[in-house]
Amino acid sequence: MDHQPNRTRENDHQPHQRSGSQDQHRVLDLDAEVFGDNLAAVLDLTGVPAARSVVDLGAGTGAGGRLLRERYPDAAVACVDNDPQMLALLRKQGFAVVEADLDDGFPALSGSLITADAVAEAPVDLVWASSSLHHVAHPARLLSGVRRALAPGGVLVVVELAALPRFLSHPRGALLEQRSHAAAAAEGWNHHPNWTPVIEAAGLGVTQSEVTTIAPVTPAAREYAQQWFARFSHLPALTADDRDAVADLLERFSDDIELVPRATRTVWVATPD
Ligand SMILES: C[S@@+](CC[C@H](N)C(=O)[O-])C[C@H]1O[C@@H](n2cnc3c(N)ncnc32)[C@H](O)[C@@H]1O
Repeated sequence: MDHQPNRTRENDHQPHQRSGSQDQHRVLDLDAEVFGDNLAAVLDLTGVPAARSVVDLGAGTGAGGRLLRERYPDAAVACVDNDPQMLALLRKQGFAVVEADLDDGFPALSGSLITADAVAEAPVDLVWASSSLHHVAHPARLLSGVRRALAPGGVLVVVELAALPRFLSHPRGALLEQRSHAAAAAEGWNHHPNWTPVIEAAGLGVTQSEVTTIAPVTPAAREYAQQWFARFSHLPALTADDRDAVADLLERFSDDIELVPRATRTVWVATPD
């Protein structure tokens, strides 16, 4: 199995990566707005009733952090990232922020998780890594560090998009979207392994499942769909006919295009053996 991480921007699952940081923030925010229920359902599935100390690895614009803070209002939530603009956004939202390169392993938390009874050596009740582990150069090293940081009974949650979000419902549109996804896969978008053996090798027992959500059709959902198709239109693996069809779709992208926004996330819930 290929456990090579995605190191290039092109390999990201998000459609924003070549178009600048502002677009990146917007797309992460759109995903949170449109498919926030999907992430919330993921957290429900983990069955973690309480947590006092939480670490969000690769926290981005804070979609996961906000959800975790809401779900565990008494917890200290530390957000880790290495992108200065993401870190600034996280700080603005009041998160304890750890600037660290996860390629170097699990970071020193340096007092960012202050809880009443944190155990110095293994202070973390919940580690959350959503759409971030596939970016990391040495996931096995990071996961070994997570294993050491987890408190007894602590939980690691790894989340990845099972597939790119889908929006079109009409059979012709759905097929065009399917071929666009295949062209994106050829470029390595959203490429990640099944994390089960990597997590197990780090000394954690793991269960894997999937959560699918159909989102309401809102202006944000329309904007998000448009963003994806705008990105697809540049994919080299798309045929000329499909490129024309995507361009045509984007030109007439309006309220009369029927959407059924849906996303499926794969969730790995792990606890120390
Ligand atoms: C696709 S975003 C996911 C953001 C967020 N977890 C979410 O679900 O919306 C990936 C995040 O991981 C961060 N990241 C990628 N590689 C990293 C590394 N080596 N060290 C720290 N953060 C990293 C990026 O800066 C980005 O914020």
